[in-house]
Amino acid sequence: METEIIVISDVSEKEKIKKAADVLRRGGLVAFPTETVYGLGANATDENAAKKIYAAKGRPSDNPLIIHVADPADAEKYAVTSECYYRLAKAFMPGPLTVILPKKETIPASVTGGLDSVAVRCPQHPIANEIIRECGVAIAAPSANISGSPSPTCAKHVIHDMTGRVDMIVDGGASEIGLESTIIKLDGNCATLLRPGAITCDALSCVCERVEISHAVTEELAANEKPLSPGMKYRHYAPTSPLVLLDGDDDCVISFLRRAQNREHCTILCYDEEAELLRFERLIPIGKRDDIAAQSAKLFSALREADTLDGDVIYAHLPKKEGLGLALYNRMIRAAAHTIKKV
Ligand code: TXA
Ligand code: MG
Repeated sequence: METEIIVISDVSEKEKIKKAADVLRRGGLVAFPTETVYGLGANATDENAAKKIYAAKGRPSDNPLIIHVADPADAEKYAVTSECYYRLAKAFMPGPLTVILPKKETIPASVTGGLDSVAVRCPQHPIANEIIRECGVAIAAPSANISGSPSPTCAKHVIHDMTGRVDMIVDGGASEIGLESTIIKLDGNCATLLRPGAITCDALSCVCERVEISHAVTEELAANEKPLSPGMKYRHYAPTSPLVLLDGDDDCVISFLRRAQNREHCTILCYDEEAELLRFERLIPIGKRDDIAAQSAKLFSALREADTLDGDVIYAHLPKKEGLGLALYNRMIRAAAHTIKKV
């Protein structure tokens, strides 16, 4: 299929927004920017349109999609909301939070992988929000990458993965956050965290009575364990060379990396401050040591870049699990298949 690429730099470009919305309304696939990562959108109430998403991504059909709405209250049409949902909406929506709610019949089973719940998110990115508003219907959208590659954080990544597989790609610049949304499941006023993101546990705790972190956020699933979210059981992204996370003081990590550069063909994801302490060879700075937001924004493009280099192994710091760090930790241990080396 022919893929049209359009650049939208501002919501005032109404004609282009209408054009993208028309493709979606007619059952087509449109990739668009959000504040987290780029999404691969289709009309969430159109069973066939939603099925096209799975084909384009090569995604297993039991892995449900998030539906995106322009206003938190639009969730009413598709899900059974609650008082707690609206308190969360008031605090964090539009924004990088996805809430799993009981689903209504307006959403076909193909969107939710047969589950009786549906994940709802109201994106903050003005272009995403306007396209959805213009559609007048919820848009199902997973990350716009081929299943198994890192989520796309700029149009270049989407063009690489999705050209010829979707009708349209909207280029709206780089995603600000760079990691996918926080996902929670609600039980009354209590939340279970299924995927950490930019809305942190501390922030959620200000609204929810209790926030429990699913153990799968930081640990490997047991062999026969049924995950709370189908996505947890899929190996998300595996770099072509193995990723090893280094656990130790920064000084110890640097000494280890210096030795590693002398004895092996390694690729290194380092803090900006460390770049001059190492040899400039397959070296990818991912942000300042204390700037977790910058590291998060850079992670997926750094992993894509590492894949183009011919290192035998990729080394990176093991992130701390606090605040936004928990999201970074969660994505990195999955990419590393839980390989941690003490140094
Ligand atoms: O930031 C984001 O959330 C991005 C942007 C495009 O909005 N979307 C995204 O979608 O990351 P995706 O499909 O890559 O990840 C959605 C995750 C999957 O792991 C899926 O299993 C889980 O959400 N999920 C969706 N619906 C669910 C449900 N009803 N119950 C449990 N987990 C669900
Ligand atoms: Mg994804």
